[in-house]
Amino acid sequence: MVLNNFVVFEGIDGAGTTTQLKLLQEKLAGYSKTKSFFTFEPSPNPTGVFLRQVLKGEIKLHPDTIARLFAADRCEHLYGANGIAELCSRNTLVVCDRYIFSNLAYQSTECGADLPRQLNEGFPLPQIVFYFDLEPSVSINRIGGRGVTEIYEKIDFLEKTRRNYQSIMEEYKDKTQIVHIDATQSVEAVFEKIWGIIGNLPIIKA
Ligand code: TMP
Repeated sequence: MVLNNFVVFEGIDGAGTTTQLKLLQEKLAGYSKTKSFFTFEPSPNPTGVFLRQVLKGEIKLHPDTIARLFAADRCEHLYGANGIAELCSRNTLVVCDRYIFSNLAYQSTECGADLPRQLNEGFPLPQIVFYFDLEPSVSINRIGGRGVTEIYEKIDFLEKTRRNYQSIMEEYKDKTQIVHIDATQSVEAVFEKIWGIIGNLPIIKA
Protein backbone atom coordinates (compact mmCIF):
# COMPACT_ATOMS: atom_id res chain seq x y z
CA MET A 1 0.00 0.00 0.00
CA VAL A 2 1.20 3.53 -0.83
CA LEU A 3 0.55 6.34 1.66
CA ASN A 4 -0.33 9.48 -0.29
CA ASN A 5 1.28 12.77 0.77
CA PHE A 6 4.19 10.90 2.32
CA VAL A 7 7.69 11.66 1.02
CA VAL A 8 10.98 10.23 2.29
CA PHE A 9 14.64 11.08 1.86
CA GLU A 10 17.10 8.19 1.92
CA GLY A 11 20.84 7.65 1.53
CA ILE A 12 24.00 6.70 3.39
CA ASP A 13 25.32 8.93 6.18
CA GLY A 14 26.70 12.22 4.86
CA ALA A 15 24.53 12.17 1.70
CA GLY A 16 22.91 15.50 2.61
CA THR A 17 19.30 14.46 3.28
CA THR A 18 19.02 16.56 6.44
CA THR A 19 20.26 19.74 4.70
CA GLN A 20 17.70 19.25 1.93
CA LEU A 21 14.89 18.55 4.39
CA LYS A 22 15.61 21.90 6.09
CA LEU A 23 15.66 23.74 2.75
CA LEU A 24 12.34 22.20 1.79
CA GLN A 25 10.88 23.12 5.16
CA GLU A 26 11.97 26.75 4.67
CA LYS A 27 10.55 26.83 1.15
CA LEU A 28 7.20 25.39 2.21
CA ALA A 29 6.92 27.85 5.09
CA GLY A 30 6.08 30.36 2.35
CA TYR A 31 3.14 28.23 1.16
CA SER A 32 0.49 29.08 3.70
CA LYS A 33 -2.23 27.02 1.99
CA THR A 34 -0.25 23.77 2.15
CA LYS A 35 -0.05 21.95 5.46
CA SER A 36 3.32 20.26 5.83
CA PHE A 37 5.16 18.37 8.55
CA PHE A 38 8.86 17.52 8.69
CA THR A 39 10.21 14.63 10.68
CA PHE A 40 12.98 12.04 10.88
CA GLU A 41 13.87 8.50 11.98
CA PRO A 42 14.95 7.47 14.51
CA SER A 43 11.98 9.58 15.57
CA PRO A 44 11.73 12.10 18.45
CA ASN A 45 9.61 9.53 20.37
CA PRO A 46 11.18 7.66 23.36
CA THR A 47 12.26 4.61 21.30
CA GLY A 48 13.93 6.91 18.79
CA VAL A 49 15.71 8.86 21.53
CA PHE A 50 16.96 5.56 22.96
CA LEU A 51 18.20 4.56 19.48
CA ARG A 52 20.25 7.77 19.26
CA GLN A 53 22.20 6.54 22.32
CA VAL A 54 22.71 3.20 20.57
CA LEU A 55 23.94 5.01 17.43
CA LYS A 56 26.47 6.96 19.51
CA GLY A 57 27.77 3.66 20.91
CA GLU A 58 26.69 4.55 24.47
CA ILE A 59 24.49 1.45 24.69
CA LYS A 60 25.60 -1.82 23.05
CA LEU A 61 22.90 -4.19 21.75
CA HIS A 62 22.68 -7.25 19.52
CA PRO A 63 22.16 -6.18 15.85
CA ASP A 64 18.81 -8.02 15.69
CA THR A 65 17.61 -6.06 18.73
CA ILE A 66 18.62 -2.81 17.01
CA ALA A 67 16.71 -3.82 13.85
CA ARG A 68 13.60 -4.54 15.93
CA LEU A 69 13.89 -1.24 17.82
CA PHE A 70 14.08 0.76 14.57
CA ALA A 71 10.93 -1.03 13.37
CA ALA A 72 9.14 -0.44 16.70
CA ASP A 73 10.07 3.24 16.57
CA ARG A 74 8.71 3.40 13.00
CA CYS A 75 5.43 1.78 14.06
CA GLU A 76 4.82 4.46 16.71
CA HIS A 77 5.99 7.23 14.39
CA LEU A 78 3.46 6.07 11.79
CA TYR A 79 0.49 5.03 13.87
CA GLY A 80 0.85 6.84 17.22
CA ALA A 81 -1.26 9.91 18.06
CA ASN A 82 -0.63 12.62 15.46
CA GLY A 83 1.55 10.13 13.64
CA ILE A 84 2.49 10.14 9.97
CA ALA A 85 -0.51 8.08 8.82
CA GLU A 86 -3.00 10.36 10.55
CA LEU A 87 -1.34 13.53 9.24
CA CYS A 88 -1.22 12.26 5.64
CA SER A 89 -4.89 11.32 5.81
CA ARG A 90 -5.66 14.91 6.90
CA ASN A 91 -4.04 16.25 3.71
CA THR A 92 -0.74 17.21 5.28
CA LEU A 93 2.42 16.67 3.26
CA VAL A 94 4.76 14.67 5.52
CA VAL A 95 8.46 14.64 4.66
CA CYS A 96 10.61 12.19 6.62
CA ASP A 97 14.41 11.91 6.78
CA ARG A 98 14.83 8.07 6.55
CA TYR A 99 12.22 5.31 6.61
CA ILE A 100 11.97 1.54 5.91
CA PHE A 101 14.70 1.72 3.24
CA SER A 102 17.24 2.69 5.95
CA ASN A 103 16.27 -0.42 7.89
CA LEU A 104 16.50 -2.60 4.77
CA ALA A 105 19.88 -1.13 3.74
CA TYR A 106 21.67 -0.63 7.09
CA GLN A 107 20.36 -3.55 9.14
CA SER A 108 20.81 -6.00 6.23
CA THR A 109 24.52 -5.16 6.41
CA GLU A 110 24.59 -6.46 9.99
CA CYS A 111 21.72 -8.97 10.27
CA GLY A 112 21.28 -10.26 6.73
CA ALA A 113 18.26 -9.37 4.59
CA ASP A 114 15.57 -11.61 6.12
CA LEU A 115 14.92 -9.95 9.47
CA PRO A 116 14.69 -6.35 8.13
CA ARG A 117 12.37 -7.55 5.36
CA GLN A 118 10.11 -9.34 7.80
CA LEU A 119 10.04 -6.35 10.17
CA ASN A 120 9.17 -3.81 7.48
CA GLU A 121 6.83 -5.67 5.13
CA GLY A 122 3.64 -4.40 6.76
CA PHE A 123 4.49 -0.70 6.63
CA PRO A 124 2.98 1.48 3.87
CA LEU A 125 5.24 2.74 1.09
CA PRO A 126 5.79 6.46 0.68
CA GLN A 127 4.41 8.27 -2.37
CA ILE A 128 7.93 9.44 -3.33
CA VAL A 129 11.41 8.33 -2.27
CA PHE A 130 14.34 10.65 -2.98
CA TYR A 131 17.40 8.41 -2.96
CA PHE A 132 20.64 10.36 -2.45
CA ASP A 133 23.54 8.41 -3.89
CA LEU A 134 27.25 9.06 -3.44
CA GLU A 135 30.54 7.25 -2.83
CA PRO A 136 31.15 6.45 0.85
CA SER A 137 34.67 7.91 0.51
CA VAL A 138 33.04 11.30 -0.19
CA SER A 139 30.40 10.94 2.52
CA ILE A 140 32.98 9.88 5.13
CA ASN A 141 34.92 13.09 4.43
CA ARG A 142 31.78 15.14 4.95
CA ILE A 143 30.95 13.31 8.20
CA GLY A 144 34.52 13.84 9.46
CA GLY A 145 33.83 17.58 9.51
CA ARG A 146 31.02 17.08 12.07
CA GLY A 147 33.32 15.83 14.82
CA VAL A 148 30.97 13.09 16.17
CA THR A 149 31.14 9.57 14.74
CA GLU A 150 28.29 7.07 15.03
CA ILE A 151 28.48 3.27 14.93
CA TYR A 152 27.66 2.92 11.21
CA GLU A 153 29.95 5.71 9.99
CA LYS A 154 32.73 3.44 8.73
CA ILE A 155 33.77 3.10 5.12
CA ASP A 156 33.38 -0.72 4.80
CA PHE A 157 29.98 -0.63 6.44
CA LEU A 158 28.78 2.23 4.22
CA GLU A 159 30.13 0.52 1.07
CA LYS A 160 27.95 -2.53 1.81
CA THR A 161 25.01 -0.36 2.85
CA ARG A 162 25.24 1.62 -0.40
CA ARG A 163 25.15 -1.62 -2.41
CA ASN A 164 22.09 -2.69 -0.41
CA TYR A 165 20.42 0.66 -1.13
CA GLN A 166 21.12 0.31 -4.85
CA SER A 167 19.49 -3.12 -5.06
CA ILE A 168 16.56 -2.05 -2.86
CA MET A 169 15.86 0.97 -5.10
CA GLU A 170 15.88 -1.35 -8.10
CA GLU A 171 13.49 -3.72 -6.34
CA TYR A 172 11.05 -0.96 -5.36
CA LYS A 173 11.12 1.03 -8.60
CA ASP A 174 7.74 -0.27 -9.81
CA LYS A 175 6.10 -0.11 -6.39
CA THR A 176 6.55 3.61 -5.67
CA GLN A 177 8.14 6.69 -7.27
CA ILE A 178 11.89 6.64 -6.75
CA VAL A 179 13.90 9.74 -7.65
CA HIS A 180 17.66 9.23 -7.91
CA ILE A 181 19.72 12.18 -6.71
CA ASP A 182 23.40 12.56 -7.49
CA ALA A 183 24.40 13.67 -3.99
CA THR A 184 27.82 14.91 -5.13
CA GLN A 185 26.07 17.88 -6.78
CA SER A 186 25.85 21.28 -5.08
CA VAL A 187 23.22 21.85 -2.40
CA GLU A 188 21.45 24.26 -4.80
CA ALA A 189 21.40 21.77 -7.70
CA VAL A 190 20.03 19.00 -5.50
CA PHE A 191 17.35 21.29 -4.11
CA GLU A 192 16.35 22.38 -7.60
CA LYS A 193 15.74 18.76 -8.55
CA ILE A 194 13.71 18.08 -5.41
CA TRP A 195 11.64 21.24 -5.76
CA GLY A 196 11.01 20.44 -9.44
CA ILE A 197 9.04 17.42 -8.19
CA ILE A 198 7.60 18.55 -4.86
CA GLY A 199 6.61 21.97 -6.19
CA ASN A 200 4.45 20.26 -8.83
CA LEU A 201 2.50 18.01 -6.49
CA PRO A 202 -1.25 18.72 -6.45
CA ILE A 203 -1.12 19.29 -2.68
CA ILE A 204 1.25 22.25 -3.28
CA LYS A 205 -0.41 23.66 -6.38
CA ALA A 206 -3.96 23.52 -5.01
P1 TMP B 1 20.97 10.48 10.84
O1 TMP B 1 20.09 11.07 11.88
O2 TMP B 1 22.26 11.23 10.68
O3 TMP B 1 20.27 10.24 9.57
O4 TMP B 1 21.45 9.07 11.42
C1 TMP B 1 20.59 8.05 11.65
C2 TMP B 1 21.40 6.77 11.61
O5 TMP B 1 20.53 5.68 11.88
C3 TMP B 1 22.05 6.48 10.27
O6 TMP B 1 23.34 5.92 10.47
C4 TMP B 1 21.17 5.39 9.68
C5 TMP B 1 20.65 4.68 10.89
N1 TMP B 1 19.36 4.02 10.70
C6 TMP B 1 19.34 2.64 10.61
O7 TMP B 1 20.38 1.99 10.68
N2 TMP B 1 18.13 2.02 10.45
C7 TMP B 1 16.95 2.70 10.38
O8 TMP B 1 15.89 2.07 10.23
C8 TMP B 1 17.00 4.12 10.48
C9 TMP B 1 15.73 4.90 10.42
C10 TMP B 1 18.21 4.74 10.64
